[in-house]
Amino acid sequence: MKHLILSCSLSPTSRSALLARRLESALAADGNTVKLIDLREVALPFCEANECYADPNVQMVTAAIAEAATVSIATPIYNYGVGGATRNLIALTGKAWTEKVVGFLCAAGGQGSYMAVMAIANSLMLDFRSLIVPRFVYASGACFSEDRITDATIEQRIDGLASDLRRIGSAITQVVQ
Ligand SMILES: Cc1cc2nc3c(=O)[nH]c(=O)nc-3n(C[C@H](O)[C@H](O)[C@H](O)COP(=O)(O)O)c2cc1C
Repeated sequence: MKHLILSCSLSPTSRSALLARRLESALAADGNTVKLIDLREVALPFCEANECYADPNVQMVTAAIAEAATVSIATPIYNYGVGGATRNLIALTGKAWTEKVVGFLCAAGGQGSYMAVMAIANSLMLDFRSLIVPRFVYASGACFSEDRITDATIEQRIDGLASDLRRIGSAITQVVQ
């Protein structure tokens, strides 16, 4: 089974990228194929619903989503929602999300934005019948120190998300085959 992780922060000191990397290790532990795409390394154009779809990086990311059984979004929280780069990525890749099992990992400043992924989760469900894993990882600034995750509960939640991605992803894959 193929797992894809999209690390959507453009910050050079991104904390959601630390969550993404920790999920990558958890998923790889049992030998599954895991691909991590970091948007700091893959420049995407703004979606203008026209020529953007021909961009080679857009096509690469779209194909990676389409090929994966599960797709996890590691995102910064900006203005009580997911960051603009995350929204732009979803706008660029559209139908590739059809019936994907989707997980979320969020880095936020404080606790107040804990429902921030709901707008984008609803849009994935309504537009593409994505199956949202109801085990969000939400880490505030207090869960990190410098370039490390320091909160053991967050590490446990990432392991829990990895377990659910494997379980739900493999069940869906078997039904589809
Ligand atoms: C423009 C901007 C808006 C932000 N808005 C929120 C917010 O609404 N709620 C929150 O909890 N944190 C907010 N933050 C804090 C970020 O979520 C936090 O710095 C997080 O670590 C960003 O993720 P990253 O480190 O992966 O880039 C904001 C930060 C910036 C720069």
